[in-house]
Formats: sequence, structure tokens, C-alpha cells
Amino acid sequence: MRLAVFASGRGSNLDAILSAIKRGDLSAQVVLVVSNNESAGALQTARRSGIPHLHINRDHFDSDAAFDNALLRALTDERVEIVALAGYLKRVSPAVVARYKNRILNIHPALLPAFGGKGMYGMKVHQAVLDYGCKVSGVTVHLVDSEYDSGPPILQRCVAVADSETAESLAAKVLRAEHEVYSQALQLFAEGRVRIDGRTVEVA
Ligand code: GRF
Repeated sequence: MRLAVFASGRGSNLDAILSAIKRGDLSAQVVLVVSNNESAGALQTARRSGIPHLHINRDHFDSDAAFDNALLRALTDERVEIVALAGYLKRVSPAVVARYKNRILNIHPALLPAFGGKGMYGMKVHQAVLDYGCKVSGVTVHLVDSEYDSGPPILQRCVAVADSETAESLAAKVLRAEHEVYSQALQLFAEGRVRIDGRTVEVA
């Protein structure tokens, strides 16, 4: 499975995906790393690992269509089959979502539909979980549509919230779960085991 990973930041999920591939737990090849952020850790990883990478930003283009075309051309050139958003802080445009319908995944560090949507990323998510007094949080891997965090879930995993939890300790716990769950979800696609019908996602 030819995979593109889109990331805006640190890139620990990209690292986990690459490790899963190396271990033989994920039958995929990362053929492209895309970032809107020139200093993203994910781009550094791509450079170090010799993976084709692209720093691309809507601001570099005169129109949405020109940006979409450049992005789609890069995906087509690398014959990308599945796109994994891993901490990509930009909305994916309707044109790209349409071209890769049901083939773009995202990972979110909470149990959607709670604690998701525009602006809910990073530590804000974990602080909101604690402020609400939740006893569990978790990870959601979901399909991407043109809104933030609104496509149907593929896999979710719970993480317990301890009485003494801080946003930092919860973030670390959830991130450990993310690193396992994302590769598992991607492997389901690699094995062709995912059936999608509207919001119903079934694993065969
Ligand atoms: C992760 O918590 C992911 O769930 C969210 O953004 C964060 C990215 O972390 N979408 P990293 O850049 O993969 O380390």
C-alpha cells in the first residue's frame, strides 16, 4: 500500500508508522510526506529517511484550485493510494477529499465526537477532557471529509483517566495508544478489510 503522511508538527505518528513498517506489522510504504510547515519534525524525518517530501502551503498559490492541483499532482506522481493525516492542522479541501474519497484517514487524540472540531488540537483537547471530569478518553482513527474531525470512525481505543491525571500525563498516555492504533487501522486498509457505506465502517 502506497501511503502519504501529512503532518504539521513533531511527527511522532509518522515515526510510529515507519517503525511498524520496519517491524513488518504494517504492509505499506511511505512514498510521500507532506507538510504546510517548513520546520515540521515530520519533514526532517522524511529528509533523514530518504522519503520524498513536499512543503506546500495554500499561501504559495494564487487560488484554492492551483493549490489543490499541485497537491493532487504530487499524490498522483507518487501513486499514493491512502493518505494518513498525522497532526496535519489544515483542512483538506473538498477537491482532494473527493479524489481520495474514503481513502484519507485522520487520528484524533480523544473519543470523537467529543472534544473534536476546529481548534481542538494538542493540549487543549486533554485539558478539556479533564475540565469536563471525564473518566475515560482515548484515540479515534476516522475517515476524513471536508470538515474537521467529522468523518466516521474506523478504530477507537479508550484510555483511563486517573484521579491524579494532568493534561501532560494524559497526552503522553493517549499518544502511546495513538502510536499503536494508527498502524493497526492502516493495516486494515492494506489488507482490504474495510467496508464503507456512508457512516457505517465495517471491518471484515
Ligand atoms: C497527535 O496527538 C494526533 O492525534 C493529532 O496531532 C498529534 C500529532 O502528533 N492529530 P505527532 O506530530 O504525530 O507527534
